[in-house]
Amino acid sequence: MLELEKIKKIIIANWKLHGSIEFTQEYLKKLSFVGSDKEKILVICPPSTLIQYLKSENFYLGGQDCSNYSSGAYTGEISSELLKDIGCTFCLVGHSERRSIFKEDFKTILQKIEKLIENKIIPIFCIGENLQQRKENLTYEIIKDQINKSLPSKIDLEKIVFAYEPVWSIGTGLVPSIEQIAETHNFIKKNIFNNTKIKIVYGGSVKASNYKNIIDSDFVDGLLVGGASINLDEFNKIIKF
Ligand code: PGA
Repeated sequence: MLELEKIKKIIIANWKLHGSIEFTQEYLKKLSFVGSDKEKILVICPPSTLIQYLKSENFYLGGQDCSNYSSGAYTGEISSELLKDIGCTFCLVGHSERRSIFKEDFKTILQKIEKLIENKIIPIFCIGENLQQRKENLTYEIIKDQINKSLPSKIDLEKIVFAYEPVWSIGTGLVPSIEQIAETHNFIKKNIFNNTKIKIVYGGSVKASNYKNIIDSDFVDGLLVGGASINLDEFNKIIKF
């Protein structure tokens, strides 16, 4: 299994519901990431049907979600076993779009994380506050609650990545200041876990014009990029850092 502790920065592309086989082939031709430096890795999370077209030695593959079941009469689901089978090393879990649009609750997210761990897939566990919660100064409480309610108690913290994604920043062009990002990451590392080695990437409106300050921060272990990851004029700049 990939040893996360040796990796300094992780860039994750979340394509969401975008792409096609043709798009994938063009993407592979134009993507300028060279994965020779193992301290810096790229993870691409396309829609599930495109995973098989994206195999490369330069980056890792990730699912965008997984079922909380392994197999059975669960029409439409994709299990972590199937994601493993097709070559995924990572999988997003608890993304705010899954929580809000698909009503995923804390228990379901917990079960998904357990399934991923069982199948030796590294969960990218998304957490973060919405605008109302931020205005009410509840950011830390919300993050703590999300972690307390969905993180399996016996988890090995070297085998999970956290993604701090303020919901109000996703797809909006609004980004917290680097001080705010660093403070929140520091809160999670020191106050929640008392472990500065855990990996936390930042996500929310990351673009070529704003990524540099964020990725350079010692408190930030990488980026989770949505919209800008399907635009290679943008993304090729971000992965060069
Ligand atoms: P965004 O999305 O970069 O388009 O804001 C990030 C995400 O949803 O993971």
